[in-house]
Amino acid sequence: MITESAVKYLKANLGTENIDIAIVLGSGLSFLEDNMEELRQVKTSDIPDYPASTVVGHKGTISTGAYKGKNLMILAGRVHYYEGYSYDEVVFPVEILAGLGVKKLLLTNAAGGVNKNFGPGTIVALDSYIAPFSPDYKIPVQQPYSQKLNGLLEKAGEKAGVRVGRGCYAYMTGPSFETKAEIKYLRLLGADTVGMSTVPETVRAKELGIEVACVSRVSNFAAGITGKPLSHIEVLETAKDSQEGFISLLKEFVTLL
Ligand code: HPA
Repeated sequence: MITESAVKYLKANLGTENIDIAIVLGSGLSFLEDNMEELRQVKTSDIPDYPASTVVGHKGTISTGAYKGKNLMILAGRVHYYEGYSYDEVVFPVEILAGLGVKKLLLTNAAGGVNKNFGPGTIVALDSYIAPFSPDYKIPVQQPYSQKLNGLLEKAGEKAGVRVGRGCYAYMTGPSFETKAEIKYLRLLGADTVGMSTVPETVRAKELGIEVACVSRVSNFAAGITGKPLSHIEVLETAKDSQEGFISLLKEFVTLL
């Protein structure tokens, strides 16, 4: 997709020079802006050609501002493959970041805990992913996640008093949650968390030379672990409950950059 108009719009309406890192926040994770100075914000619906999110809890804004001297860009709300968008549409925000010269990207997602040690509220820095049923990816990525940024996430966790696990994310296309049998299978494949986002963005960002880290926030045990049915509402509620620790972690993380 052509990002020229979108890039031009953002340059005119946000502080897009010398961004230290862009952070993408998923379901129920729209915050952080409260703590930034020189905050500027646009609605994604006002950005030319930007795909519209249809999911509850995705507010659809892009903000820039400074936190402790670090220039941040926060993307709140994104679109998913399961909403009917193409790969090109899902990675459109990443293309814009590249167009703005952004060099580092922290992706976040809400995920199910496949590893039985990763219950609701656990934060997991990803060191790999699997995409067993995924549609088209342009390149296989051998080292998708930056070890350097993962090291900073770990250090930030120590400072904030928040446990940061490490793991492998299973990307599922959705829209439905997985079956028990699928989770058993994903566990056999080595997955620690499961969700429906961030892998296309990772692949495209790497292709464009952007350094990427990704954090899963576990909102629920994956199917079949507790016997209770899963719901999007539960995902949003846990995101809210574990928000404080996660904000502390992010604040420490960006200051370490
Ligand atoms: N499965 C898939 N996606 C998810 C889950 C899950 O259990 N929780 C949050 N997003």
